[in-house]
Amino acid sequence: MLKLSKVTKRFGSLVAVNDLSFNVEKGQIFGIAGPNGAGKSTVYNLITGFYNFEGSISFDGKEISGMKPYQISKLGISRTFQIPQTFPSLTVEQSIEVGNRFGNKDRHDIKRIEKIIDFVQLQDERKELTGTLNLLGKKKLMIGAALATNPKILMLDEPMAGSNAHEIKALMELIKNINEELGVTIILIEHFMKVLTELTEVLLIIETGTEICCGDPAEVTSNPKVIECYLGGDHD
Ligand SMILES: Nc1ncnc2c1ncn2[C@@H]1O[C@H](COP(=O)(O)OP(=O)(O)OP(=O)(O)O)[C@@H](O)[C@H]1O
Ligand SMILES: [Mg+2]
Repeated sequence: MLKLSKVTKRFGSLVAVNDLSFNVEKGQIFGIAGPNGAGKSTVYNLITGFYNFEGSISFDGKEISGMKPYQISKLGISRTFQIPQTFPSLTVEQSIEVGNRFGNKDRHDIKRIEKIIDFVQLQDERKELTGTLNLLGKKKLMIGAALATNPKILMLDEPMAGSNAHEIKALMELIKNINEELGVTIILIEHFMKVLTELTEVLLIIETGTEICCGDPAEVTSNPKVIECYLGGDHD
């Protein structure tokens, strides 16, 4: 469904993504992990058309490199950001509407909007300004606005960051439901290995923009190279 082939991104002399190739299959939850500065968010920025790069990215067999972010979104790729981004002067409902209009050729699909508000469980907050939401509320809203565009793939950038155990459980449940009930393919950048091993079908580990290993999450997390790049030495 989504295929990266030999993708490299340089920022001056820094190689943020280095000859990276991977495939995400339809229906998967595909995990990406790696130390800080490994290039994870840059991979999202390349897939969503923020920067030029070397190599190729295709979606449903169509080359998307060189396309603008809005064009890529309209093809069915949607994302959230590592630092929650909301429109503070809009209500929850209005924010979901924005995503919905964007994803539906300016049609206002009230059924879809209602479904998404229910799905992310923001019924009680629907008339509140997004600036008043707590962190979990902002994250759910960001996911809801992305879902309202009707994506085929949803890319989440560290959705668990800063969350407590209760919030992590709620977000894991939400991600699972988006995948299973809405049939949306998911790419998940995350630091919490437990979350990755529980949710993902395939896990890619990168360090300084380069693949360390990719495959079954249980095998990947017991790979000595992964343990070393995470913990920096010999660890049981
Ligand atoms: N626009 C940019 N200009 C210059 N350097 C950048 C830019 N964006 C990212 N970088 C650099 O590229 C490298 C990869 O950054 P990136 O944000 O992709 O890492 P990450 O894996 O998402 O890290 P984290 O876990 O901290 O979010 C870092 O060294 C970062 O400083
Ligand atoms: Mg990042």
